[in-house]
Formats: sequence, structure tokens, C-alpha cells
Amino acid sequence: MILVTGATGHVGAEVVGQLLERGLPVRAMTRRPEGVRFPEGVEVVQGDCDEPESLRKAFEGVERAFLMTAQATGSRKLHTVEQVRAAREAGVGHLVKLSVAEGGESSHELVADWHREDEAAVTESGIEWTMLRPGRFMSNTLVWKHMLRRGDTVQVAFAKKATAPIAPEDIAAVAVEAFTNSDLANETLELSGPEVLTPERELAIVGEILGRRLTLAEPTVEQTIDGIVRGGMARDIAEAMVEHVMNGDYGADISPVVEQVLGRPATTFRSWAEKHFKEES
Ligand SMILES: NC(=O)c1ccc[n+]([C@@H]2O[C@H](COP(=O)([O-])OP(=O)(O)OC[C@H]3O[C@@H](n4cnc5c(N)ncnc54)[C@H](OP(=O)(O)O)[C@@H]3O)[C@@H](O)[C@H]2O)c1
Repeated sequence: MILVTGATGHVGAEVVGQLLERGLPVRAMTRRPEGVRFPEGVEVVQGDCDEPESLRKAFEGVERAFLMTAQATGSRKLHTVEQVRAAREAGVGHLVKLSVAEGGESSHELVADWHREDEAAVTESGIEWTMLRPGRFMSNTLVWKHMLRRGDTVQVAFAKKATAPIAPEDIAAVAVEAFTNSDLANETLELSGPEVLTPERELAIVGEILGRRLTLAEPTVEQTIDGIVRGGMARDIAEAMVEHVMNGDYGADISPVVEQVLGRPATTFRSWAEKHFKEES
């Protein structure tokens, strides 16, 4: 049995679907099973990383697990530590962990320290692991959808920050491969999409797909920080992160790993957006 944490999330939902397609037994974890529909054949379990007892039950009988955390960077009492504890008690044999690009090492030291601790919970667990380190997700642009329903002006943070965004579907495909290919055991995989783009260019592509003339409005630095703090991050860490994103020269390297692992090119933003934005108009 393979447990997928964050199974309702952008990456986790894809991991669930792709494991199912491979005919592998999947258990999907969510805090609120009553509110979610998973494909037929998926076992659903209630689990909340803030409730260790629920994790113990969720991991029972599990052989392999996909681990992610939705905690704000800097949060104390790491969810990953709780997940790994439950995994060890259950005798899990392989953990595939969703981390961040470069394990946060090129980021501000407050951020880097937190991610180091988060990854170490897995790599020092004594359980076989695979570390996935993706850069910016293409799915970050999905927050534009509600603005597109109201009009043609879209608020875009970090509009000119160039990175190589990756499709959650590709991250999930690598995760599934990690569960099935022993060459990926105890490997750290830096993952990116196939091209360097700014969010400004992504919005232009979405406009072309929708056949609409879209206008970009960039929030101020203060508005961006306030938004991150409203999402649960401590202000000092949010400030450090934003400062670093604005001024740092990183994140725009294209990694060959998705193509190497999957034997096909990584998904382009245009083809990902065709699927996810097409129905919007
Ligand atoms: N976005 C990016 O550009 C980016 C880049 C690199 C790395 N990452 C990493 O990717 C991860 C986010 O992945 P995602 O976009 O797939 O997630 P997401 O779509 O934001 O989904 C969050 C998931 O976390 C679950 N969750 C929230 N609180 C929980 C709790 N207390 N206990 C158990 N589960 C909980 C939710 O499940 P329920 O609500 O169903 O319980 C949901 O499935 C983060 O760790 C982030 O650092 C993101």
C-alpha cells in the first residue's frame, strides 16, 4: 500500500491518479474525507499532521509513502517529523518527499535552515528515501482564475522573476517513478520545467490561449508580504523570502532530470495552461 499525503493538493492528487493508472494500491490522506471525491479504487483515510494519532492510523499497513507538508516555512513542530515518526512505527520501506529547489539552500538562511531540518527528518530517518526538489510550480498561476472571471486585469506577484516553472503532473510522474525504480533510492532530484519564463510571459500565454487581451497589475512589495503573512507565515520570514526573490539571481536553471527520469521532455507551460485554463473565458 502506498500512502499519499496532501492527496487533495496539486501534486498529491496527481500522484494518486498516476499510481492508480499503474495499478498500484493507493491510500489517499486528507483532513476531511467527507468533502472529497477520489477516483474509484482509491482507499481514503483521514489524517491531520497536527493530530499524530490520526497519522498513526493513516500509516498503518503502509509500505511506501509520498510525503508533503503544507506548513508555512518557519513553522515549529515540523509536520515532516510527525509523518516520519508514524512511518517508522508502521515499518514503511520507502519515502518520496516533496521538498523545494536546492533544499532552500540558495534562499535566506532562515528559510534554508528550516528546509534543512525538514529534509533531514527524512534523510536521517533510516528509511530509504527519494528527495524531490522542484522549482516554482505552474499551478501557482491558478490563483489568476478567479480574477479572470471578474475581468481582464490580473494581479501578478514577482512578474519579472524568471524561473523554469514545472508542471505538478511532472513532479508526480517522477514521484511515481521513484516508487517503482530502485535506481532512484536515496537520490536527491532537482526538478524544473523545460524553459525559463517570467510570470508576465505566462500571463501573456494564458491570454493567447483564452483569446483575451489581459492586463498585468503587480502588487507592491508590502502587499505581497502582507498576503504571505495572511497565509500563515511569520513576518520576518516572509520579508526575508520576498527580499530574496526580488534580488536573488537563482531559480532559472533548467534541470534535465524530468526528461532523464521520464524518458520524455518536461511539460511546457503552454501545453499545461491549455489543459488548465482552456475552459475559462
Ligand atoms: N508552489 C510552488 O511553487 C512550490 C515550489 C516548490 C516546492 N513547493 C512545495 O510544494 C508543497 C505544496 O504542494 P501542493 O501545491 O501540491 O499543495 P497544495 O495544493 O497547496 O495542497 C496542500 C495539501 O496539504 C494538505 N494539508 C494541509 N494542512 C494539512 C495538515 N495539517 N495535515 C495534513 N495535510 C494537510 C491538504 O489536504 P486536505 O486539505 O485535504 O487535508 C492539501 O492536500 C509545499 O511543501 C511547498 O513548499 C511548492
